[in-house]
Amino acid sequence: MPVVAFSSPKGGVGKTTLAANVAVAMHQLGWGVVAMDFDVQNSLRLHFGMALSDGRGYVAAQDRPEDWPNMALQTPSGVFILPYGKASDQERLQFESHLIHDEDYLRRGLGPILDRDDWVVIADLAPGPVPALQALGRVGALQVAVLLADATSLSLLPVIEQGRFYGDTRPLVVVNQVDPRRRLSRTVTDFVAERIPDHLLGQVYRDEGAAEAIGWQRSVFEHAPNGVAARDIRAIAERLSARLKPAPVESEAREEEPSAQPEPQNGGRRWP
Ligand SMILES: Nc1ncnc2c1ncn2[C@@H]1O[C@H](COP(=O)(O)OP(=O)(O)OP(=O)(O)O)[C@@H](O)[C@H]1O
Ligand SMILES: [Mg+2]
Repeated sequence: MPVVAFSSPKGGVGKTTLAANVAVAMHQLGWGVVAMDFDVQNSLRLHFGMALSDGRGYVAAQDRPEDWPNMALQTPSGVFILPYGKASDQERLQFESHLIHDEDYLRRGLGPILDRDDWVVIADLAPGPVPALQALGRVGALQVAVLLADATSLSLLPVIEQGRFYGDTRPLVVVNQVDPRRRLSRTVTDFVAERIPDHLLGQVYRDEGAAEAIGWQRSVFEHAPNGVAARDIRAIAERLSARLKPAPVESEAREEEPSAQPEPQNGGRRWP
């Protein structure tokens, strides 16, 4: 089940920040990683140093998922990314229609990686009950719901628990931007930990370094490697890695493996 999807009923909670940095941390743990953006905001790529003006992305090829492998871009972090890219309204709507109606859609696009147990897809979703949620569920994604350590997020916990957002699946939960100096933050964090002990994937402390890192278009591990966010995100990646075993092989060894894929036409970048 090598797909992890970061989503939330709520916007602005840190889905993209966590998806990008967990992707980097998973790669550092030895996994091959593809970070895939399902949000029209197209901001996942910014965490990997892509230029704002660079409109490359896979959604413009929404009717040719078999071509997506050739569109994966390797980033300096070692993570491959599939940016959402510049897409017209019509392309976006057709993409969403495929996600809803075409049962096999993501499997056709992600086939090469779904067959590899040492690679993982990290998906970043738009907020709310978006079509990608169900489509990712069909390829067995491990769902991770991101919440803030605040009262509004807490009010959404029943929505998640009662299956009104994720269907029958109970997602893992990350509480983000925890500030131990604030009483409300501590109260919310403790409540969630007591309420869903088996589904709490982790807590990520509020860290200015995490917010600044995106301004420099780099990961928190480069920008603030000794900060609390780097520590907490690394811990989350380690827990995910343990859940997604078998244990990954060394990156170098993986790179030397022969690939069944034909040589891609994108400047030598190689999809898993
Ligand atoms: N642990 C953290 N500490 C400090 N700032 C954070 C942390 N996590 C995220 N942020 C900041 O919070 C803001 C929102 O983060 P992000 O864009 O990742 O949220 P999102 O859930 O993806 O939003 P959207 O719903 O719009 O897609 C950003 O400015 C980001 O830098
Ligand atoms: Mg986002």
